[in-house]
Amino acid sequence: MRCDQTLAWQALQVHADKFKGFDLRSAFADDPDRAADLSQSAPHVFADLSKNHTDRATEALLLELAQQTGLTQHRDAMFRGEPINNTEGRAVMHWLLRQPSSSASDPAALQTVQADPPTVRADSPTVRADSPTVRAELVEALAQVHTTLDAMLAYAEQIRADAQITDVVNIGIGGSDLGPQMAVLALQDLVAPGKRFHFVSNVDGHELAAVLKDLRAKNTLFLIASKTFTTLETMTNAHSALAWFKAQGGIDVARHFAALTTNVAAAAGFGITTTFGFWDWVGGRYSMWSAIGLPVAIAIGAAGFRQLLAGAHAMDQHFQSAPLAQNLPVRLGLLDVWYRNFLGYTSRSIAPYHSALRRVPAYLQQLEMESNGKRVDRNGNALPYGTAPVLWGEPGTNGQHAYFQMLHQGTDVVPLEFIAVKKPTHRLKDHHELLLANAIAQAQALMLGQQDPGGHKHFTGNRPSTFLLLDELTPASLGVLIALQEHRVFVSGAVWGINSFDQWGVELGKVLARDIRARIVSGDARGLDASTAALLARVRA
Ligand code: F6P
Repeated sequence: MRCDQTLAWQALQVHADKFKGFDLRSAFADDPDRAADLSQSAPHVFADLSKNHTDRATEALLLELAQQTGLTQHRDAMFRGEPINNTEGRAVMHWLLRQPSSSASDPAALQTVQADPPTVRADSPTVRADSPTVRAELVEALAQVHTTLDAMLAYAEQIRADAQITDVVNIGIGGSDLGPQMAVLALQDLVAPGKRFHFVSNVDGHELAAVLKDLRAKNTLFLIASKTFTTLETMTNAHSALAWFKAQGGIDVARHFAALTTNVAAAAGFGITTTFGFWDWVGGRYSMWSAIGLPVAIAIGAAGFRQLLAGAHAMDQHFQSAPLAQNLPVRLGLLDVWYRNFLGYTSRSIAPYHSALRRVPAYLQQLEMESNGKRVDRNGNALPYGTAPVLWGEPGTNGQHAYFQMLHQGTDVVPLEFIAVKKPTHRLKDHHELLLANAIAQAQALMLGQQDPGGHKHFTGNRPSTFLLLDELTPASLGVLIALQEHRVFVSGAVWGINSFDQWGVELGKVLARDIRARIVSGDARGLDASTAALLARVRA
């Protein structure tokens, strides 16, 4: 049932009305158990949700909403490999990429541990959830996953041992860039000595040119990362990289270029013979666990990459089996729905208090906004309620000296999500205590505020935040953190009834860019609107 037609939705609307006078300070004063009740541990991560505009009654109603919108059935359909990406007719199985190989010999392990009866959904009527054929297909898919993973990790180790390769250049964009780039940065302390990593994504030639100027062909490995192997930016950069390589006297393309793609034929057509494949059931923004993760595997080694997968798998298991009231991605995803649809908070800010996590906000932008930035339901019907919030952020403490002013004293309430790490990997005195103190103090200041009625120093306080705390930043804890965010996006998307796994909204601009490019060359402005025609004339002048 569509979420806004459920009884829980109506009850939440009434509850939200009553909630207008909610004050975090009084909530804590009235309820000594609030911090404990609205906090929880999940594998590798502690989450304090208690400084949010929520209470037990809100959570209970949100759980009813989850139940009335079929969240667990949708989740289980994903984990059974049903084609829940209905507009592309595809299964959604990035979780299979982190499933241990041992489950291949135990087909039952591939089934969700939930006992909910399978439901036949309007958007996935073709696959019987309990069909033995489906199980056999999953077992076969898992075997392929591990064959590819083993080959890719062996290759990663070979490159790590190859002293002649000093520079690895990943050419890809969107999901073929943000995930590996974020993870290589996050795990920089584990990166093999003697190897430098570069990420080129933009069609803007300044980016590739700036990287190439410091490279030598014989020391460089180019990874051409593209699920489709058709993306304009990536293909343009790949062609330029190949031309540069040949112009530098490079000969051995097989040794210096590898492709990471589902389109093995297109990679071969390009002239690349070293290819690691993946499958159409891996969405671009969910692909860092696949061959797209090769730069990460080269950076941190095969064992590290397996730990990353293991961390994500631990979160998959938590998502599948923890009771909903203690299921962290479920709680976060439902909180997102509460904020977006009932309290009217239209954005969420991310503050990683760890500089190695500095690309996490960019990564999460694609994850949330490309997945849930949809205005229609799975059947294409327009929705009367809001979906994806705007995500944005920078590492702390930098953000504190830039836009936190608005978070504390602006006219809009923006929930803030802190991501902090208990143990540092450096030994510099004082820094880490200061960093953590700032993170905790900011959450406190947002909530407590400060009295200066009528004055510029008045902080209303009562500003919501979530605090995620990792013990340390390791491949496993990073895997947990990212899988947590993936599943949280799944939860809100499922409640909203949208397909979180397509991205038709990026297509129109691609088509128009081809047309405008031809017009930049020809100067033909016929049929264009006046503004576009004037811009065309200016760039040609
Ligand atoms: O244009 C959007 C998009 O399709 C993303 O979803 C994807 O991650 C990115 O482009 C790159 O696509 P590809 O990996 O096929 O080059």
